[in-house]
Amino acid sequence: MKINLANIKKAKKLLNKSECIAIPTETVYGLAGNAYSDKACKKIYKIKKRPKNNPLIVHYLNSQILKRDCSFNNDFLKLYKLFCPGPITFILDLKKNSKISKIITNNKNTLAVRFPKHPVTRNLLKILDFPLAAPSANPYSKVSPTSAEEVITAFGNTCPPVLDGGKSEIGLESTVLDLSCQTPTILRPGPISKTEVEKVVGREVLNPNETVETGSPSKSPGLSVKHYAPETPIRLYPSLKELLSLAPSSSENLILIPSKKSLPLFDSYSAEVMYFSETGDPLEIGRNLYTSLHKGDLLKKKTIHIPLIEKTGGIVEAINDRLRRASTI
Ligand code: TXA
Ligand code: MG
Repeated sequence: MKINLANIKKAKKLLNKSECIAIPTETVYGLAGNAYSDKACKKIYKIKKRPKNNPLIVHYLNSQILKRDCSFNNDFLKLYKLFCPGPITFILDLKKNSKISKIITNNKNTLAVRFPKHPVTRNLLKILDFPLAAPSANPYSKVSPTSAEEVITAFGNTCPPVLDGGKSEIGLESTVLDLSCQTPTILRPGPISKTEVEKVVGREVLNPNETVETGSPSKSPGLSVKHYAPETPIRLYPSLKELLSLAPSSSENLILIPSKKSLPLFDSYSAEVMYFSETGDPLEIGRNLYTSLHKGDLLKKKTIHIPLIEKTGGIVEAINDRLRRASTI
């Protein structure tokens, strides 16, 4: 659906009837439904084929509206002020009288919440009487979509209506930060790094493998190791240098490198070579990562060979995290 007033109204009408639609966000597209409606939330799980024990993120316009459903502390307020609306999801304590569907939380007493920045989705949230539950708009464990076309390709003839808000600006899912435990813990690395969060809360923040309470991946089921994966097997290399010495150069392979600048290194290869970015800038790599994986998958090669990004800091940790999850061999 093109973005115009008529279609925004149509989207509202569908959501009011507990139907699902795909919405644009600055990270990736989401498969959205009324977070207060069991019927809508059940549909999300069904369309996505997502296991019922994997809770959804709920998207709010602002923290004022969130107050109905969740309690929050000073850490949240400081992070909210600096990063929201933006690519960070908070795990917070649910209020007992919250209207959030139990289908979303699987009877847990925490909720994942986010304040998306994309103007289309913000305008939609402004005219709705409820927040939107929205996981990424891809079948379970597959690559997240960063454009309306990718949502349509991912779901085929089971695709719900898609509000086309153009290409997602960031291209990687939000950072998931658990604020419901004693020490804030990053459950999913994302566009806002651990260091940035630490600067704001003024103390150490933990990584998922350092989770104090359980230490188990079920703390955030979306952290399962094989995730975000295309159909074609992906082989990862620690560096471009290792890829150059180990990857086969034959034509049944695809080589996917961070920067166009390294193309000449592959002049003698018969393998197809694609790149994530023109310049090697991590923000550009992040934005193109999933689209490149989608495109690479469509070539139906035997294997896709990819080196990890060798820079550090910022979004690089999230990019390498997604590459590790996408790799199967
Ligand atoms: O950027 C994003 O976050 C996108 C856009 C659409 O907002 N959404 C997204 O949603 O990536 P999803 O459902 O694909 O990922 C949500 C992650 C999952 O790993 C899930 O397990 C975790 O958040 N999660 C949700 N609720 C949780 C909770 N109460 N406790 C721990 N983890 C939770
Ligand atoms: Mg997802």
